[in-house]
Amino acid sequence: MSGRHTLMLIKPNAVKNGYAQKIFLEVAEAGFKILAVKKLKLSKEEAEAFYYVHNGKPFFDSLVEFMTSGAIYAAVIEKDNAVADWRKLMGATDPAKAEEGTIRKKYAESMQHNAVHGSDSDENALNEIFFYFSAREIVNAGGKLMQLHEISNK
Ligand code: CMP
Repeated sequence: MSGRHTLMLIKPNAVKNGYAQKIFLEVAEAGFKILAVKKLKLSKEEAEAFYYVHNGKPFFDSLVEFMTSGAIYAAVIEKDNAVADWRKLMGATDPAKAEEGTIRKKYAESMQHNAVHGSDSDENALNEIFFYFSAREIVNAGGKLMQLHEISNK
């Protein structure tokens, strides 16, 4: 069964351009509950750790530089089939390939400055959520932590 939670990030370009509120509104209108949100600035070490899977790729250093260039929003969003539905709403990583109406089509500038991030599997959603939020924060936001554990145990 698909999990009900995923992590979304609004990246520095979209925050700087003033798109964050519009993006959150589109997420809510698509039926997601925005369970917990924080605005923060990643350190170099944090960005390297979050994107560790891309370590060694040609775009890694510039990705880290970009992701530390300004404030981001991190949010835990909740809905049936959260991972797939958020990825569909975001659109393709490369905005040139993103479908009309998707967030990246509207707000991304390039493959790297692509406005938003979403987890790519239930397992990664769990890891990525706990990169930015503590279990205590999620419980206090009304999150059903058991569901998150069910994902990790499936
Ligand atoms: P994201 O969904 O956050 O996951 C990894 C990020 O790396 C991706 O969005 C892009 O911002 C960036 N990325 C992936 N592929 C490339 C690429 N070929 N060139 C530049 N940036 C990339």
